[in-house]
Amino acid sequence: MTDDNFIVTPWAVIGDVNYDVLMERFGTQKINTPILDRVSKHTGELHFMLRRGIFYSHRDFDRILDAYEKKDEFVLYTGRGPSGNTHLGHLMPWIFTKYIQDKYNAKLLFQLTDDEKFLFNRNLTQNDTRKYAYENILDIIAVGFDPKKTEIFLDTDYIKTLYDIALDVSKRITLSTAKAVFGFNNSTNIGRIFFTSIQSVPAFLESKRQRKPIPCLIPCAIDQDPHFRVTRDVASALNYPKPALIHCKFFPSLTGSDKMSASKSNTSIFTTDSPKIAEKKIMNAITGGRKTVKKQRKNGGNPSECSIYQYYYYLFEDKDEKVIMLSDDCKEGKIICGECKQILAEKVKHFLVKHQEKREEAKDVVDQFMCKD
Ligand code: TRP
Repeated sequence: MTDDNFIVTPWAVIGDVNYDVLMERFGTQKINTPILDRVSKHTGELHFMLRRGIFYSHRDFDRILDAYEKKDEFVLYTGRGPSGNTHLGHLMPWIFTKYIQDKYNAKLLFQLTDDEKFLFNRNLTQNDTRKYAYENILDIIAVGFDPKKTEIFLDTDYIKTLYDIALDVSKRITLSTAKAVFGFNNSTNIGRIFFTSIQSVPAFLESKRQRKPIPCLIPCAIDQDPHFRVTRDVASALNYPKPALIHCKFFPSLTGSDKMSASKSNTSIFTTDSPKIAEKKIMNAITGGRKTVKKQRKNGGNPSECSIYQYYYYLFEDKDEKVIMLSDDCKEGKIICGECKQILAEKVKHFLVKHQEKREEAKDVVDQFMCKD
């Protein structure tokens, strides 16, 4: 039996997501073994996010691999909606994107949709979203993208360049399409209705610049797929290649629910949290453990419902043997939650110290990455 009782849009995730059902609903393809084999061959090592099916779904990823095998250039495009500070979950697709950039030697366009977050959040001013965007950029740079091959921009700082393609796209999208894809209604502000044209632009930008078709690959969380369905639908009418996509699952929150939300500050670890605060959040997290140590030793815990286990699985343990061992030990009652949290806390603290150093260094090189009109 499949559980169909959930909703995923680019702005909200409600209920427990069944990722296979979602793939069917959206009409995307599974990243299957033949594709993984090709990526292994190209990269020498599969990223753990591919091995574990964290990046699990795609549209036309195989065409990007075809292009690569023919030695054709392709461009990467991803983005961030600056509605707050960066948390660890946001880093997940960026870390993966860096892996693709490094292994495939691809240029990356990184869009910050400060306009989107202004339009979609009642409480945010234009100043707020710009401020968050500049904070987020430090985290993006700290992930380690190659400054020679990476362009980062805020929509409001680059709109003169983006606008003509946005106009081309918007002319091809009707209100009824926007309503059907995004669930808009008569009380939706009109900025929101236009916005998807802006998010489409970077998929076509490199083709326009080079005056020839440059395939584009978009790594993103699967909730962004509706935007790019629209982008793909208008592509051929505008004489651009349809962008390809690879989709990841959502990074879990410390309460164990599905999408880690930056709005609930105690359930997410921010990249700017002090190691001490991060440790506290981890020690207070909800686990799949039993009520007492005695029961845990006897009956074991449940890693599949444990936020701490998910942290290891999604980000903090790249060795598969270790993840399997952790899961087995938990189920057999060999490890209890306190120990497991403590080990994770050490890893996270170590990560934060290093990330925060790189974040400081990023301040000196922001200009090397930024594109402005
Ligand atoms: N809309 C995205 C968000 O809210 C930001 C974004 C813009 C994006 N372009 C993208 C995300 C491309 C992934 C890929 O976070």
